[in-house]
Amino acid sequence: MAVLPILTAPDRRLKQISKPISEVDNALRRFMDDMAETMYDAEGIGLAAPQVGVLKRVICIDLHYAHNDDGVKNPIFIANPVIVHASGEIVWKEGCLSVPEYHSEVTRFAHIVVQGLDRDNQAMEISGEALMAVCLQHEIDHLDGKLFIDHISVLKRSILLKKLKKQKEEK
Ligand code: NI
Repeated sequence: MAVLPILTAPDRRLKQISKPISEVDNALRRFMDDMAETMYDAEGIGLAAPQVGVLKRVICIDLHYAHNDDGVKNPIFIANPVIVHASGEIVWKEGCLSVPEYHSEVTRFAHIVVQGLDRDNQAMEISGEALMAVCLQHEIDHLDGKLFIDHISVLKRSILLKKLKKQKEEK
């Protein structure tokens, strides 16, 4: 396993839409393990593939490790995560490994159900509330080129969209 460099904003790759994976094969499993190692090394609770420059729809979450001293690691890997249910509203002060030293309150759905593929390429479903709901939405946002700072002001979001459009036109 390897600790990968984490991209920080502003970075073009953080604003791109990641591609679905066709199946979780051995190569992707190795990458998932690298993602977990990277997340643990940075003491984060979640990481999305584009944060290490890989534009694939894969996220990794472990709410436990970074905030406890027992060393227990239980990473949740989800490939091609899709939100199939969302309800309620919650405000959480968020941060991001790609936006160093900045935190801000973001309003998101309070309850969320996500489907996808697990590390064994099996269909999975996970439901979350509170921090888990926030984290799932935050990480899935990364796969669509969205950072949590894009939620805090309409102006910032429109600037980002303009940038995204311009980047597409430049290609
Ligand atoms: Ni993040």
